[in-house]
Amino acid sequence: MKSLTLVLPLVAMSVLLSPLDNAGAADTVSEAVYGKMPDGAEARVFTLTNANGMEAKVTEYGAILVSITVADKDGNFADVTHGYDTLEGWLTNTSYFGATVGRFGNRIANGKFTLEGKEYNLATNNDPGGIPCALHGGIKGFDKVLWKGESFENDTDRGVKLTYVSADGEEGYPGTLTTVVTYTLTDDDELIWEASATTDAPTVLNVVHHSYWNLSGDATTSINDHELTLYADHYLPTDAGLIPTGEVAPVAGTPMDFTTAHVIGARVEEDFEALKLGAGYDHAWVLSGEKDGDLTKAARLKDPETGRVMTIATNQPAIQFYGGNFLDGTVEGKGGVAYQHRSALCLETENYPDAPNNPKAPPAVLKPGETYYHKMIHAFSAE
Ligand code: GLA
Repeated sequence: MKSLTLVLPLVAMSVLLSPLDNAGAADTVSEAVYGKMPDGAEARVFTLTNANGMEAKVTEYGAILVSITVADKDGNFADVTHGYDTLEGWLTNTSYFGATVGRFGNRIANGKFTLEGKEYNLATNNDPGGIPCALHGGIKGFDKVLWKGESFENDTDRGVKLTYVSADGEEGYPGTLTTVVTYTLTDDDELIWEASATTDAPTVLNVVHHSYWNLSGDATTSINDHELTLYADHYLPTDAGLIPTGEVAPVAGTPMDFTTAHVIGARVEEDFEALKLGAGYDHAWVLSGEKDGDLTKAARLKDPETGRVMTIATNQPAIQFYGGNFLDGTVEGKGGVAYQHRSALCLETENYPDAPNNPKAPPAVLKPGETYYHKMIHAFSAE
């Protein structure tokens, strides 16, 4: 009897308090065990939900964006990213779906760079055109390690902060590098991805977010009918190994010109050297969009059918637009869908590919006492 009298007021209080809780962003982050890594360690998944019903899932494995639902022009939500349904699926991810890639996202020629007079050798885990290079941080890059996640929320934002300490010499890179990645989902329908890093010895880095987008929400369709704008007057032509040649070429008059919206498939098969070498679009564009403080307007992607729009702004100098040319139907992803050629695309804000070997690239070196910071805002809407 006594315990009941104590319990009842508590129940009544929590009923009274709950409407207040719901007025803020309370309970808009939840976490669950996603699965176990091969060594038995648990990987968690965080679910972020905003006031408009958007939902983003992020896992500690690879600091990966598992999914994000976006409303179309009729208010129908659908996941607009490629990936897998389970951690076991993600453990097989060789396409970098949704991943945080590092230490050095994109390619390093021959897997070699020189820093303060010393040559470093990285694994050559990729060979487009038969020319070996280091791709996306190595054999076991940031996309394949377990990060430590911690959720946060306030009235209008919620997210997850993921930390990974990469040991000195890991994947051939010098310096102990501590990287913190945050995903924030705002009530303005923005997904903000940020990476910051510090080191105890000079190193090179280019930490990159690598989601594959198909704004139709139907992963069986082609992104060739999406309309793309890249706020960039120049792009970086490459050799057959997809390494920039050093030339910074104007886009004007070429199929690389996305300064106004173009349907992706309209020019992708044109007889143009860069498109032949890339087997389609797979290049870095040098951003020249409107500035807002440190951020530059980078890209706008629209699926004309569903009206979904995604814009990207960043503090980085370039954006890699990869048109999903290596997808060939052999990878089975979410819902058992075999991801076909050009069924999704990546828009990766970053430093120039091969920056450590390119004197024209902005510096890619981080020294002790400095902080690397990369910000990327994806803003979603429908029209
Ligand atoms: C990047 C590169 C592509 C390809 C994919 C991963 O975006 O630009 O060439 O390597 O990653 O398949």
